[in-house]
Amino acid sequence: MCGIVGYIGYRQAAPVLLDCLKQLEYRGYDSYGVATRSDGISIYKKKGNVSNILPDASALQGICGIGHTRWATHGIPSDINAHPHLDCKGRIVVVHNGIIENYAVLKRDLISRGHTFRSETDTEVIPHLLEDAYEGNLLEAMSRIVEKLEGSYAILAISEDDNCIVAARNQSPLVLGIGDNELFAASDITPLLEYTNRVIYLEDGDIAEIHPDTHMIYQGSIIQDRQVQEIQWTPDTVQKGGFAHFMLKEIYEQPDVINRAIHSLTPQSLPSFFRDTRSITVVACGSSYHAGFIFRYLIESTCGIPVRVELGSEYKYNSIPFGDLIIGISQSGETADTLSAIKKGNCNNVPTIAITNVLNSTITRHADATILMQAGPEISVAATKSFIAQLGILLQVVNLLSGNACDAILSHAGFAIKKVLQLELGEAVHLCSSANHIFFVGRGSFYPVMMEGALKMKEISYIHAEAYAAGEIKHGPFSLLSSETPVVAICMPGPAYAVMLGNLKEMKARGTPIIAIGSKDDTELYELVDVLIPLEVEHLYLQILTSTVILQLLAYHTATNLGREIDKPRNLAKSVTVE
Ligand code: F6R
Repeated sequence: MCGIVGYIGYRQAAPVLLDCLKQLEYRGYDSYGVATRSDGISIYKKKGNVSNILPDASALQGICGIGHTRWATHGIPSDINAHPHLDCKGRIVVVHNGIIENYAVLKRDLISRGHTFRSETDTEVIPHLLEDAYEGNLLEAMSRIVEKLEGSYAILAISEDDNCIVAARNQSPLVLGIGDNELFAASDITPLLEYTNRVIYLEDGDIAEIHPDTHMIYQGSIIQDRQVQEIQWTPDTVQKGGFAHFMLKEIYEQPDVINRAIHSLTPQSLPSFFRDTRSITVVACGSSYHAGFIFRYLIESTCGIPVRVELGSEYKYNSIPFGDLIIGISQSGETADTLSAIKKGNCNNVPTIAITNVLNSTITRHADATILMQAGPEISVAATKSFIAQLGILLQVVNLLSGNACDAILSHAGFAIKKVLQLELGEAVHLCSSANHIFFVGRGSFYPVMMEGALKMKEISYIHAEAYAAGEIKHGPFSLLSSETPVVAICMPGPAYAVMLGNLKEMKARGTPIIAIGSKDDTELYELVDVLIPLEVEHLYLQILTSTVILQLLAYHTATNLGREIDKPRNLAKSVTVE
């Protein structure tokens, strides 16, 4: 969480920094700030969203500067707690993404030695430590203080007296963008695409001194030679392209995304760990966890490999079965809880596979093998196309492990999704928009599909939405059902159909409005429910994919109907880098 950016070159830094911060807002958006260096250090910082920039911020002078967009961890969102943070004399200024775990001890010590703190943040210890360590060279000061910092950090610092930016990285992403006579640093590549496609990913322990035409990267006192990589993503991929919101654009990209994800995995590129394992544990959070949960149903029934699906945040409390394989699923590749699960695997000599969307993200450095989802950058905080890409990869794993039995089915995935994008959901949206609580129910692999549907609904519409395995509803939640609590259900022909239909009848008997995704020819279901959203596909895999897309659209249109902030839901950030 939090996005940082630095610029040094020939342009005025403040407008560049603000422009980049807008692209980083998905990482946090409760306050923002920039600092530039010319005759001295100038700062502008403010509570609120960087998209509502006031003119003073872009008027800061200087061709070197740093910026930050915040997701508050220590201290409320406020002007004072916004980054950048200064030392006592106002000569050194810092932005930081991550958490300094031992900040309280450091702060007490600094205060006892006469330092004055202005904010409640953990970050503010960094400029004060730099102030103490500074002997005329910012890079050397940074090298001295990082040894004192415990926790995660990507830090950018500038000072009145050094004509450079100094960067340090430990467990928080940081990338350098190499331009012509200008250099950038940022939490990820998306803000840089407008300026350059040549990047260097910094590693944990790196400290870099950045000038317009050169950069030096050190581990301790040893200079590192890091490879410049050319990024294929273009600036268009991070624009809305005529859609009202990134979320809608990303939903509409899914026919292509699913095809790319499926084709990215071949018998040759499938990590061999899959074929050798006795069991699998999937670790993930949020939507990625739901993708893992769906995978469990499919691989167990098709290949007979037992699968556990664990929340990243809970995995540290579990034991690892003998002969296991850990799969960490993470769109961002930076989710702290998922990373800690992968590291636990590393410590126990268990093979690990990362499924991620972000090349060179932290998870790729810790996992033994990586599968890239190829979804392209996802800007909207709510995961949509990355979830579909995860499903694409996982369905292809099942397909490859079962001797390509589903090649023909999977080749229809993009087309099937394209068709449901045209569905009319007005009545269902109307029912959901007036509700305070919505239940999402399904059976078998549709249960986690519904978990994802409920998550999408609650995170962007702010309506309380809960998913239940349909059979569980009678064991308590039934008491909540009434004419005020719509139920969204999947009731497709198949082994669970009869019992699912029975469950829906029981709910209907309590006056509950029902929106069902079902076969378009199912007259019994049509007569029972209030709204039938017709699905025409027959294969389970295609039903999972298409019903997922329907539920994304239901959440999206309900939230727009209610006038919600779609791409940046309150209190959320796209990349959750704290445990
Ligand atoms: C929901 C959503 C989150 C993420 C979760 C894990 O729409 O986006 O629930 O799925 O924070 O993130 P990653 O996949 O980056 O590890």
